[in-house]
Formats: sequence, structure tokens, C-alpha cells
Amino acid sequence: EVHNESGSKRVIVTKTLPGDRWLQYLINADCRVEVCKHPDIILSNATIKKLMGNKCDGVIGQLTEDWGSELFEALKQAGGKAYSNYAVGYNNVKVDEATKRGLPVGNTPGVLTETTAELAAALTFAAARRVVEADVFMRAGRYQGWLPDLFVGNLLQNKTVGIIGAGRIGAAYARMMVEGHKMNLVYYDPYPNKHLEEYIKLYGELLRHRGEPPVACKRVETVEEVLKEADVVSLHCNLDASTRHLMNASRLNMMKKNAVLVNAARGPCIDEAALVAHLKANPDFRCGLDVFEDEPAMKPGLADCPNAVIVPHIASASLWTRSGMATLAAANVAGILSGYPVWNKIDI
Ligand code: DGY
Repeated sequence: EVHNESGSKRVIVTKTLPGDRWLQYLINADCRVEVCKHPDIILSNATIKKLMGNKCDGVIGQLTEDWGSELFEALKQAGGKAYSNYAVGYNNVKVDEATKRGLPVGNTPGVLTETTAELAAALTFAAARRVVEADVFMRAGRYQGWLPDLFVGNLLQNKTVGIIGAGRIGAAYARMMVEGHKMNLVYYDPYPNKHLEEYIKLYGELLRHRGEPPVACKRVETVEEVLKEADVVSLHCNLDASTRHLMNASRLNMMKKNAVLVNAARGPCIDEAALVAHLKANPDFRCGLDVFEDEPAMKPGLADCPNAVIVPHIASASLWTRSGMATLAAANVAGILSGYPVWNKIDI
């Protein structure tokens, strides 16, 4: 699908994007915009290279694509000047390969913070309160009457929530859980999040003023301390060499037997085969997963675990957010092609 046929700069958009404001940014920057309608959900490098051809000024690409030396070289050869990932995460992008070819890279932070945190909270409650198991039970026509022990789960209020990574999304999730459910927070992040700590301190003072038990917030020096203490652990870290298989068998074993583990960050942060074994061995342990180690595949056995809630990488999937991401990605590319600095630049 081609928009603004007469535009002097050629921009490839590898998937249809929601909303229409994004397109206006590119048209205003005199771009001819080609939106790929290829039937494959995950485009191969060969397909993307074919799309770029021998003249391509900029690309808006997806987190399912492999933006490394091969694609950045092809973009450079086609006269390209800009790449934006349609995502905040950029583990699919080798930024150094772009940088050494003089290609700036953008991403889409901010607009997905609350949406992603909301889904992490939804997974937390769904897992703790066994919502999906109970839904499946109802649909199977198995409900024969109220029972005291039917789908008994965990109450989260006043318990401890742990987060690994206290950046934008981690902090938004922590605020939801602390303020909404009066949970105490324990977090691991190499850098303290002073805003978050201050926010929880003020909230604690409000509770004290009302005569309610206050909430506590603690930053700890190791991931292990979070795992041992928390009733819920939610991952909000980037995927890099230091966080790949961060949750392995030995760390899973450090968690409480009836804890909840949530991942709306990146799949490979968890050793998924180890998680399947842990779920099978510990029926009271639960997890909520938005992301998977080998997406779109799941490790054998995961889908059979009733104590896992699994959804297909939808954490940022609200219309407002997805259109906002499109606008940011287009602003990144349109800006660079018009000679402005990248709106949201990923630096290395
Ligand atoms: C991201 O942006 O990194 C999410 O995984 C998809 O919105």
C-alpha cells in the first residue's frame, strides 16, 4: 500500500500500523510511504531487503525482525538514513551495527508505560486468583455449586510485591500494586529509583495519617533478596546478556512455594523449560506470561500447566498506546529525514 506517491523520500513500514496520525508525520516530511502487506507475520531478512530495494531512506520495523549487520548494511546501500523500531524494547536491534554505518535508531518509549504495567497487573491477579483456570472450568460446564475450597488462590493485599527493574514500566506497575493493594515493595535495580521511593513514602504517610498500617519500600542489592522475600515477582528489565535466563531453576527454587512470577518484559529473561518443570513440581506456584523464550513457540508442557496464565505478547495492546507508538516511530524517521535529531534515540 503506497501513500503520497510523489514524495521524494522512500520510507518502508514493514507492518500496517494503527491510527492515522503517524502517516501525516511522514507525508509532511515529503515521504512516499510504502506499507508492506506481506502475508508472513514474521518477515525474513530476504523479504525486508527486497522491500528496501536499492533506494530506501528510512524504515519503521518490528520487534519480530532481526535488525543486525545484514539489514543495516542493506539499508545503508539503499541510501538509508533512519531506522525506528516500533517498540520500546530493542533486543532485536544491534544498535552498534547501525551506529557504525552512521544510521541513527529510534524507539517508542513512554506511551506504553501504563498499558504494559496494567497488563502485568492483570496477569498478577489472574494468576494469584486462578481466573483462567476457573473460566475454563465454567466453560466446560463443570460448575455444580459453590464450595468452600473451589479455586482458592492468594490474597495479595498487604503482602510483598517484588520487581526486577525499576524503570518506567516497573515503577508504574509497582505504584499500581502498592497503592491499589497496599502491598510492600522490594525491588532490585542497579540504579535506585528515587521518584518511586518518594512516592511510596508519601503514600505510606497518608496511610499512617488514616490510622492504617503503612507500606514499606526497599531497594536490595541482589535479585535473590527479592525472590526470597516477595509473594509476587514481576520482571521489568531489558533483555541483554546479563538478564538472559535471569530466572533459572536455582532462582525459581528460591521463591516462595506459592509465589506468583510475572513476565511482561522479554521471554528469554526466564529459562522457560526450567519454569515448566517448576510449575509441574509446585502446583501452588503460579505465573503470568506475556512473552516467551522462542516466540511465537512455547516450550513443551507450558500450555498444559493450569498454574500458568499465558497471553500472546499483548502488554502494550491498547489502541491509544499502539497508535501512540506509531506516531513516535514516524516522528523518529520523519525527524531524521528532515534533518532534526531523532525524537527518541537509542544510544549505545
Ligand atoms: C515493546 O514495545 O518492547 C513491547 O514488547 C511491544 O510493545
